[in-house]
Amino acid sequence: MIKKEIIDQIRERADIVQIISEYVPLKKAGKYYRALCPFHSEKSPSFYVSQERQIYHCFGCEASGSVFTFIMAYEKITFPEAIKKLAEKLGITIQTETIPYCYQPLLDACEFATNFFSAELRKSNKAMEYVKKRKINPDTVARFRLGYAPSGNVLFGTAKKHGFSEEILIKAGLIVKKDTGYYDWFYDRLIFPVFSLSGKVIGFGARVLDDTKEPKYLNSPETKIFKKSENLYGLFQSKNYLYNNPPILVEGNFDLLSLVNHGINNVVAPLGTAFTNEQALLLRRFNNRLIIVFDADDAGKNATLRVVETCLKVNLEPQILTLPDNFDPDKYINAYGKESFNNLLKSPLDFIDFLIKIRNFNSIFTKQVQLKEILDYISLMEGNMTQELYLNKVAEVFKVAKENLINEIRKKISNRGVLPTSKTVKTAGTNIIEGQLLALIVNIPEYALMAKQELPLEAFSSNETQAIAQIVYNNVESNKCSIAQIIDSIEDEGLKKKIANLSFQITAQPRREEFEQKLIKFKASWIYQKMLIAKKQGDEALSAKLSLEHYELRKRLTQNKK
Ligand code: GTP
Ligand code: MN
Repeated sequence: MIKKEIIDQIRERADIVQIISEYVPLKKAGKYYRALCPFHSEKSPSFYVSQERQIYHCFGCEASGSVFTFIMAYEKITFPEAIKKLAEKLGITIQTETIPYCYQPLLDACEFATNFFSAELRKSNKAMEYVKKRKINPDTVARFRLGYAPSGNVLFGTAKKHGFSEEILIKAGLIVKKDTGYYDWFYDRLIFPVFSLSGKVIGFGARVLDDTKEPKYLNSPETKIFKKSENLYGLFQSKNYLYNNPPILVEGNFDLLSLVNHGINNVVAPLGTAFTNEQALLLRRFNNRLIIVFDADDAGKNATLRVVETCLKVNLEPQILTLPDNFDPDKYINAYGKESFNNLLKSPLDFIDFLIKIRNFNSIFTKQVQLKEILDYISLMEGNMTQELYLNKVAEVFKVAKENLINEIRKKISNRGVLPTSKTVKTAGTNIIEGQLLALIVNIPEYALMAKQELPLEAFSSNETQAIAQIVYNNVESNKCSIAQIIDSIEDEGLKKKIANLSFQITAQPRREEFEQKLIKFKASWIYQKMLIAKKQGDEALSAKLSLEHYELRKRLTQNKK
């Protein structure tokens, strides 16, 4: 465990705006900073960061938290890992004790297997021959930690000897249990370890050496640490290149390795499944363009269009390189070399030119069909400048009036509201005053103290609002507790989001008297409700007492007004 003092020290030193800016471009918006949310796909920014409170909140997907939770969510790492990462950034040294982490055994098993496979590759003549035949050089083999899985359940045997249990090996996707015993998941295959963004092996791809065998590729099953839709092959190795060069998306592992082999490092590939929104968002962290180079066949073209669609939805600009018939990037670069590939890279097609290139249009009717198709893609983007620029292009290419195009697009797009105001806090059964009150006490310690003196927890109307008030009350007196700290300490996700949301609800701080008015009004209506209940239950004494209390409160209200 990491010492609490260290965590506090890091919290003091790490400025959330500065740290988050390293990941997403923040723009100043009033007293907050704003950006497109990195945790869900959106077209207008609803991700807000408060420097003052050191927290963030997305009004779209409700992701929220402190600088620690941001790093955890963004890098997909654990709390201790996030602490370490921040400490490194800030130059703070931490003496770590062992980190308890439930996925660690799976990572350990994958790391063990990676070393095992890579030793097996060196031992296997036929696997080494294959790598050579595919022209992958030793540097690339080492950097991508390629390996070979032998037959005969050798991995299982060796891993057991090294203390890995069957349970862990199954959970890591390395072995399977059958009626007759435990078996290696991979055998007689070339192994491509898949790395997480932070460089840990989380799963494997594997290719047969003999093309007559099926299936050509076999991947690790989905595990607790291996989510195919959220990771990309080669991203760990390419990520530092992607800020200056847009990522090149290829289909196959060998396409990627061959490009890297020739010194083209900004390459990624999906993990044997369709390119997902999550993957597009992942790439958008590094660059706002994506260059797609798929096989030149029909399947490749259709797959390209699906990637285009995904890109447009998340505001990633797709560009396409087309290769000569029967070529894929692997074959191309090995045939024509780096220079030639770099030349292709100089003039990628935008998706409009790509569609025009792959669809015939030799008649007015087919042209119209094509135009419709292009508009379908453009309508995926939402009324922004990019859309306008694409429309200009279409108008020019097809020689049609832009107004007509805009009308077509309008028909396609259903109007959506502007985000941040549409999802303000809604707590079931809570009236507006209660919401405002909560927002104020969450944000302003002075007012939280006033509320604590005036309003008992039971005055709040629901379990949830009571829980929020309780947290605020508990923390207000030890006033060194910031909202960020409070948020970090809450385990209930729903509550955490609510509080973060409330933290962004205040646009202007009311004067003290105004706040007091709200507070008393709220209290008065609560007392009044209580009185009505007492009356109904026939408790005359209580009812009278409450009635008097209510009267006093009303009096204070009118006095304050003067
Ligand atoms: P070769 O050049 O033929 O060695 O393969 P490649 O790496 O270029 O792959 P290919 O273009 O044939 O396929 C693209 C990607 O799709 C591969 O890298 C795999 O991730 C995936 N893939 C291909 N075949 C299969 C298969 O049979 N099963 C699964 N699950 N994925 C496959
Ligand atoms: Mn290939």
